[in-house]
Amino acid sequence: MILVTGGAGFIGSNFVLDWLSASDEPVVNLDKLTYAGNPANFASLSGDARHIFVQGDICDRALIASLLQQHRPRAIVHFAAESHVDRSIHGPGDFIRTNVDGTFSLLEATRAYLAGLTDTDKAAFRFLHVSTDEVFGSLGPDDAPFSETTPYAPNSPYSASKAASDHLVRAWHHTYGLPVVTGNCSNNYGPLQFPEKLIPLIIANALAGKPLPIYGDGQQVRDWLYVGDHCSALRRVLEAGRLGETYNIGGWNEKANIDVVHTLCALLDELAPRERSYSELITFVTDRPGHDRRYAIDARKAERELGWRPAETFETGMRKTVQWYLDHQDWVRQIQSGDYMQWIDRNYSQRTGAAE
Ligand code: NAD
Ligand code: TYD
Repeated sequence: MILVTGGAGFIGSNFVLDWLSASDEPVVNLDKLTYAGNPANFASLSGDARHIFVQGDICDRALIASLLQQHRPRAIVHFAAESHVDRSIHGPGDFIRTNVDGTFSLLEATRAYLAGLTDTDKAAFRFLHVSTDEVFGSLGPDDAPFSETTPYAPNSPYSASKAASDHLVRAWHHTYGLPVVTGNCSNNYGPLQFPEKLIPLIIANALAGKPLPIYGDGQQVRDWLYVGDHCSALRRVLEAGRLGETYNIGGWNEKANIDVVHTLCALLDELAPRERSYSELITFVTDRPGHDRRYAIDARKAERELGWRPAETFETGMRKTVQWYLDHQDWVRQIQSGDYMQWIDRNYSQRTGAAE
């Protein structure tokens, strides 16, 4: 069996659902259920003995030690993190605690567990660390995309905490021989993404007739990857990634934020028409402090070594995503509780805005 951390969040729950649809190998899913963790994400696994959910904190080393002893996994896939840049600007403490201290605690518990395994089991074990392209900082318009050898230059509290976790993972391999592999992935989108991130936030606001906030001039570029493609890449890294190596994972899909939002509006105009186009709701608002201008991934190593390429194009992935949110408006409504509205107020009320 495998141990997944953060499997109640966006990518983790997609990974668990994909994993159990493709194999019968059980999953222990450890998640603290912060605001971002949602048991409804794996409601379809209710009663499925292959999925064991444990509510707990990755900083709790005793809990992790006991889970490892009890379930004896052959791999850990580590998603659990605080993941939203804007929240890291408002309150970086939780990011240092979970992303840095939590990864440290997981590495130490894993090291102790491996000491008790046979050489064969130890050789087969994998610690797969799920990270981000944001650790590389920001690209200029003509710079080559990030490769695995691009120097780290994180700019936000979020990316700095992920960079720190990547360094710990690397060091635990180098010093203690921990069998690690790391994926550095670009921006994901797709079903089950919490509506604080750009794409689900725009869909939710559009359907509610609310302004669609674009930070700054909207010309910031991200390299968008459909979440199912990230999950398939991670399965390949787990199967065939070389120990101690990092793999950049991306969609070959660079888009400016304003173009992403126009694409969403056009899809909504088609799939959920209203009197006037949704694009009328676009509103430029005060920029994010320290906003990275451009991310882009060179994913040739993953293709060369793992034979992985994304299956979805931006067009097919965005259409599936918009349709999923239209079909799951209850899921969104359930999240839009008091906590969520407080966050929206905190992040957006201070930003001045102007319609496009
Ligand atoms: P998310 O915020 O949707 O989910 C994070 C999950 O971790 C939640 O279920 C939360 O409850 C859980 N969690 C948080 N703190 C915890 C703790 N201390 N102990 C146990 N569980 C805890 O995040 P996501 O978008 O699914 O991202 C998952 C991972 O992928 C993160 O490590 C993130 O850095 C990385 N990543 C995300 C993206 C993206 O575009 N979303 C891109 C590249 C990499
Ligand atoms: P986000 O989804 O928060 O991901 P990240 O910051 O990790 O890239 O944001 C994606 C891009 O969209 C980023 O450039 C910030 C921008 N953005 C907006 O313009 N408006 C918004 O309301 C949000 C949440 C993000």
